[in-house]
Amino acid sequence: MIKARIVGTGSTTPKRILTNKELEAIVDTSDEWIIRRTGIKERRISSNGQGEDTSEMATTASLKALEMARILPEAIDMIVMGTVTPDRQFPSAACFVQKALKASKAVAFDVSAGCSGFLYGLSIANNAIATGTCKNALVIGAERLSSVTNWEDRSTCVLLGDGAGAVVLTPSIGADGILSTHLQSDGNFWNLLYSYDERSKIPEILDTIEGKPFSLSMEGNKLFKKSVVCLADIAASALENNGLSCNDIKLLVPHQANLRIIKAVAERLKIPMERVYVNIEKYGNTSSATIPIALDEANREGLLKQGDYALLVTFGAGLTWGASVVKWSI
Ligand code: ACO
Repeated sequence: MIKARIVGTGSTTPKRILTNKELEAIVDTSDEWIIRRTGIKERRISSNGQGEDTSEMATTASLKALEMARILPEAIDMIVMGTVTPDRQFPSAACFVQKALKASKAVAFDVSAGCSGFLYGLSIANNAIATGTCKNALVIGAERLSSVTNWEDRSTCVLLGDGAGAVVLTPSIGADGILSTHLQSDGNFWNLLYSYDERSKIPEILDTIEGKPFSLSMEGNKLFKKSVVCLADIAASALENNGLSCNDIKLLVPHQANLRIIKAVAERLKIPMERVYVNIEKYGNTSSATIPIALDEANREGLLKQGDYALLVTFGAGLTWGASVVKWSI
């Protein structure tokens, strides 16, 4: 049976580093608290006019992934982009990427699935390749969360950052590739993490939102507990579905929201931290971008070799969560 395999990875983050120390001057927090409670030391923040808008970072990451894959943009049939911070409400950020890459054949669209956007996109593109709808696909996770961050809210602003990652998929008829993707959603818990905007309910004449499209509301503590259970359960199902055990996994690549969440999930899955990819200390939570950035860094560091099993797990607003088992093919 045909499935998709990853043949290229790429990522980028903005130049500007915002340290915990700098945040101490903005909100009532401390470097010590942020590191102890989250594992984050610094994050990257986009600057205007520096090629660091969401679609611009997505384009940079995509070009790196295409270069590794040795595939030209004209050969891409589908661009799927997970994001909650597209440049504009519409058109999709994926269409801006298509334009910038001159990927004229590609159908392009965004997926809104909170932090799970990349894995949702991976699942869509994998299915499109498996059914023959498309041959070569670009799957991106890109965010400019700093544009929607409430910089007066210490409970969220210390967590978030900007960046983008991308993978190129092509058909695989061998044993390698995306072995399965598993997705779940539960809208009953929407109010654990949401945007304040409610734009569809605001008559235009009363719309007094000043400059900012929206900011976030988050019940961190409840999300924390829910995410550990959802992530561990869906990862275990993904392993079972493929007849694999935790010992078979060379690298767990989890969504990077909180180091304590990552450790708790790894412990439940009985995967030692040496086999878990963590870069949250450098970037914080970049939502849809965390997994493709981590995957690209792990790949370029040589942590994954052909035939290795990687387990990707994600959790985000919606609620949405998911997992995917990948037999590495680069
Ligand atoms: N600096 C200092 N103190 C803080 C800060 C801060 N930045 N933020 C909160 N506090 C305080 C709180 O006010 C509270 O004080 P109180 O005890 O006097 O009331 C105390 O710290 C403890 O607050 P908690 O919210 O219970 O702290 P917790 O240990 O749960 O850590 C955190 C908070 C980091 C948000 C954690 O709950 C978390 O990471 N949750 C999950 C977040 C998540 O996964 N979100 C995203 C999923 S989707 C996505 O990735 C976008």
